[in-house]
Amino acid sequence: MEQQATAVPEKKQRILSGIQPSGTPTLGNYIGAMRNWKLLSDEYDCLYMIADLHSITVRQEPAKLRQQSTQLLALLMAIGLDPEKNVLFLQSHVPQHAQLSWVLNCYTYMGEMSRMTQFKDKSAKHSDNINCGLFTYPILMAADILLYQANLVPVGADQTQHLEICRDIATRFNGIYGNVFTVPEGYFPKFGAKVMSLQEPTRKMSKSDPDDCFISMLDNADNIRRKIKRAVTDSDSSIAYDPENKPGVSNLLTIQSALTGESMDAIVASYEGKGYGALKSQLTDVVIDTLAPIQDKFNQYMNDKAYLEQVWRAGAETASRLADRTLSKVMKKVGFVAR
Ligand code: TRP
Repeated sequence: MEQQATAVPEKKQRILSGIQPSGTPTLGNYIGAMRNWKLLSDEYDCLYMIADLHSITVRQEPAKLRQQSTQLLALLMAIGLDPEKNVLFLQSHVPQHAQLSWVLNCYTYMGEMSRMTQFKDKSAKHSDNINCGLFTYPILMAADILLYQANLVPVGADQTQHLEICRDIATRFNGIYGNVFTVPEGYFPKFGAKVMSLQEPTRKMSKSDPDDCFISMLDNADNIRRKIKRAVTDSDSSIAYDPENKPGVSNLLTIQSALTGESMDAIVASYEGKGYGALKSQLTDVVIDTLAPIQDKFNQYMNDKAYLEQVWRAGAETASRLADRTLSKVMKKVGFVAR
């Protein structure tokens, strides 16, 4: 009998990414990472994880951690990530992360971990709490990715070394046991823009810096206005995009371009003959117009705890089912007796 060729939809590539619930995400997190997650969700099979296990590598206040994790889930939905289309889940709800992480610990060398620049930076910053979790953090991250056989991982520059080590661990494990893991690639977004501190524009905008250095995604209009007004510029007064010599002004222009989608040239041209006041006032409107609708949705979700719970339960269930396939394979390969 003749076989009719049926149009089988091509299997989508899988994406996994994670964000830590330590603090409220900033405008920089939104522009550099979260907003792209939304763009990817049409084209890829996406899992987005709230990396609460990673957060406790530095000391957290329990009530705050709980609140920030819940808020982060509400924020992910508020930026448009549909939980029917994306798997949204909390890392600690899926025990397979910790389980695979242990196994992978035994396939990773001390020397490899010692070379991680983030470990060196963080242990300098938290010298009173250089715990083993901080040291093995990249192994947990590798487990996050490998459990789901992710093809692509969107990460910022600060995480590329961790992704590299994940690939090394996967390749090593596959070399011993056959093809167990998909070796993931980094995904570098088309619309990536690095947002810098408003006070020290040569450094990345960070939520662990003093309050006036960053705009939080939950800042109200008054705070946004005040922070942009105080943002560092320079003693010159011409508006030009020149990150080296005019980092403050260039940062403000970058934010405007990222949020409006207009080209840098068009934006710079629109300020011809105008001063920094005009730039700051225009940018303030753009930022408020971007964040206000997100904040409205965020508040709606936060007021519907039952729905939030439903979302995280469904997410954990789906994630667990997927993770279990990989973990069972791994346990069999290393020689554990099936229960
Ligand atoms: N370590 C990442 C960060 O701090 C968060 C994270 C945890 C992550 N697990 C991940 C990112 C897996 C990508 C894939 O930004």
